[in-house]
Order: sequence, then C-alpha cells, then structure tokens
Amino acid sequence: MKKLYIETLGCAMNVRDSEHIIAELTQKEEFELTSDLTQADLILINTCSVREKPVHKLFSEIGYFNKVKKEGAKIGVCGCTASHLGEEIIKKAPFVSFVLGARNVSKITEIIHKDKAVEVDIDYDESTYAFSDFRSSPYKAFVNISIGCDKKCTFCIVPSTRGEEISIPPELIVQEAKKAAQKGAKEIFLLGQNVNNYGRRFSDRDRDVDFTDLLRMVSQIDEVERIRFTSPHPLHMDDKFLEEFASNPKICKSMHMPLQSGSTKILRAMKRGYTKEWFLDRAARLRQMVPDVRISTDIIVGFPGESDEDFAHTIDVVERVGFEQIFSFKYSPRPLTPAKDYDNQVPQEIASQRLSYLQDLHLKMLDSISARELGKIYNVYFEELKPGGYVAGRTDNNWIVKVKGSEELLGKFADVRITKPGRLGLEGEVIV
Ligand code: SAH
Ligand code: F3S
Repeated sequence: MKKLYIETLGCAMNVRDSEHIIAELTQKEEFELTSDLTQADLILINTCSVREKPVHKLFSEIGYFNKVKKEGAKIGVCGCTASHLGEEIIKKAPFVSFVLGARNVSKITEIIHKDKAVEVDIDYDESTYAFSDFRSSPYKAFVNISIGCDKKCTFCIVPSTRGEEISIPPELIVQEAKKAAQKGAKEIFLLGQNVNNYGRRFSDRDRDVDFTDLLRMVSQIDEVERIRFTSPHPLHMDDKFLEEFASNPKICKSMHMPLQSGSTKILRAMKRGYTKEWFLDRAARLRQMVPDVRISTDIIVGFPGESDEDFAHTIDVVERVGFEQIFSFKYSPRPLTPAKDYDNQVPQEIASQRLSYLQDLHLKMLDSISARELGKIYNVYFEELKPGGYVAGRTDNNWIVKVKGSEELLGKFADVRITKPGRLGLEGEVIV
C-alpha cells in the first residue's frame, strides 16, 4: 500500500472534494491515508482562493512539504487556487507534480500517473457522482447538490474557479443521501455555492424541481433525521422556501444568510441582487416563523466605495437581526473579479478598524445571546469526543454542546439541560 497525506483548506465543498479524492485513491488505486507527512508517497493540498492570505500560505506550505517529504514522494495541488493559477504553480514551484482544479476532482486517478500535468477545465461536468464512497464522519454526510456558481458577485473568485452552476439530478442526490443515511449518517448536509437556486440548470435535461422540492424529497428518506444545507442566498429566500424551512421537522433550524453588506449602495456594487430592506424583511419573517432559529452570516468590510455611512448600515443590520454567528472578513481584492479594478478602494487601516469594531460589537452581543440559553433543554446529536472526558454534538439550531460522557453517546440523540453558556458553545448535562 502507498500512503496518502491530504490537507484541506477552505469551505465545506472542499471537504467533500477531499472525501471524493480519498475515495478514488483508496478504492481505485492502492493508497491508504496517513497523518504523517514524512511517510507519504503522495502529498495533496486542497486549496482555497477566496481571499489572498491562503494563496500566499500555499507556497510556503508546499515548500515545507518539499523539504520534509520522503524521497520520490509526489506533491499535487488541488482545489480553487489550482484552478486559477494553473501551470503558474508548477513554474513557481517546479517540484509540484500536478495541478488539479476544483472542478476536475474525478480526474485524480489519471493525473497522479502523469508528470507536470495541469487539469483545470472549468467547464468540466462533475454532476454525475462518478465517485467512490468515503466519508470522514460516520454520523453525518455531506452531499453535493450543485457544482459551480452562476452569480457574479463582483468580489468573488469562485465562479472563475468552480465554473458555471449545474444542479445535480435530484434522483442522484436522494440516492446518495439514502446510501449515507442507511450506513448510519442520521444528518445530511446539502452543499452548493448557492443552494436555493437549485434546479435552474441540469446538464442532461430540464426538470421542474427547485430547492424546496429537493428538501422535501430528502426529508422523505426514513433514515434521515436531520437536514442542514449551505449556502443559501438571501435573494432566493422566497416564502415557499421559508415555509418549508419552518414547517419541515427534519430541517435544522439554523440558517446561513450571507449579508456581505448592510448598505444597499454597496450591495448594488457587489451585484448581490437584494437591498438592505429585503434582507431585513426576510430575516424578520424567518424569526417570526421560527422563534428558535439561529441565523449566521458572512460580512465583508472595506469593499471598494464603502463609506462610514455604508458601514453604519451594516452595523444597523447586525443589531437589528441579532445574528447568532458572524464570519467577518476584510475585503480582499481577487484576480478575475471586477471589484479589484474599482478605483475607490478603501485604505487598509480603515478596513481594519471597521473589522475590529464589528467583531468587538458581536462579542458583546454573544454574551447576551448565550446567556439566554442557561437552563434550556435541547435535543443534541453527538458526533465527537473532546478532551477531558467530554462528548460534543449539535442542537437542531446549531449550538455546539458538550457534556461529560464517552463513546456510547456518539451517533445518538439525547436531551441535554444547559448548565454553562459560552460565546462559542454550551455545556450541559444529559437528562436521564
Ligand atoms: N456562496 C458561497 C460563498 C463562498 S465565499 C458559499 O457557499 O459560502 C465565502 C465567503 O467569503 C463569502 O460569503 C464572503 O463573505 C467571503 N468572501 C468572498 N470573496 C471575498 C473577498 N474577495 N474578500 C473578502 N471576503 C470574501
Ligand atoms: Fe461567490 Fe456570490 Fe457565488 S459570493 S460563490 S459569486 S453567490
């Protein structure tokens, strides 16, 4: 057996792509996984290019791989940075054996046998699931529902690295979810760049099915107990979708609503397709329909042209929606995106100040958000052992909860009373 070491950066879609790569290499080729870099015959890094920092890190990372790898071991660069830099990677780091784009994962078994090969075709269609099966957790399963993204958010490189959006046929998704659930994954996590735009285009033939229909289909699988999904787009949060979200008991009550900015002027410059008012209306409707819902968001500060007033709109939305979780980023100019050429870039210091302001504000909000959890009872699905004799799981509305316990709880549901709220997670005890 040869040994495979793989490092995965970035989003859930990359995690799933890595699972596909592992499946292909362990089932169609003679590889087994190792966590010891120096023992590996093949070292892969599955990259992210959404912001500049991880791209810089890539070259120092592979330089390190090259230094410590064993004689004859190959290094391959996969994922979004592979897609957008292509052969430049091999020019800059000639010890790299191959470059495999985010849309070309299924070619992994061919490319490992080539030298200095580059496969980064963004029109390649991987919507047929011609992959072997590997899952990193037995308790939950990522299931892709679409590849690529058709939006043209002006800050975002993803459409250039993952290509045009294609929905995977619903029958394949249901089959994949069923297979995973029958093997014990009670939670199905549906993945796409823009999940609630599902069904606009399939690669084979038209079908009259949208994301809401798909959610219903997956929820009809008996063995599936929980459904999560990421990422939905605020523009496509129509009433039909929100009503299904609210009323379907298998759909977990946590929603990601990527705001990006609270200023309608900036949203327009970002080509997000919605206004501040639309976003507030959808969030209010969601809170009204699902009182226990937890809403997470992504926010970019310092997008070109963002004034103090625009930023104040973002803060206003943050306070009014009361997001339970915020992923916030300083705007990072990306190649192949229109916004990098805008002539009204915001100085770094201002962007940094805004980011700190937003993050400090949210930390304070988290104190009151978590304090109200004390004494509540939640049904928790346990997934992971934690140091110190703890087992951790998630509530339906996506709080991470840890309790004292052991393996016996893994893969099971239990009612837990919250005894200690924290900003990032809760502690509790199982009610017997
Ligand atoms: N629809 C995608 C978004 C992918 S990018 C999804 O499924 O999550 C994830 C987040 O990174 C975006 O929501 C955005 O907030 C942030 N991001 C994207 N491009 C960025 C850039 N150029 N600078 C800073 N943050 C960016
Ligand atoms: Fe990027 Fe916008 Fe698509 S953030 S992934 S272009 S929805």
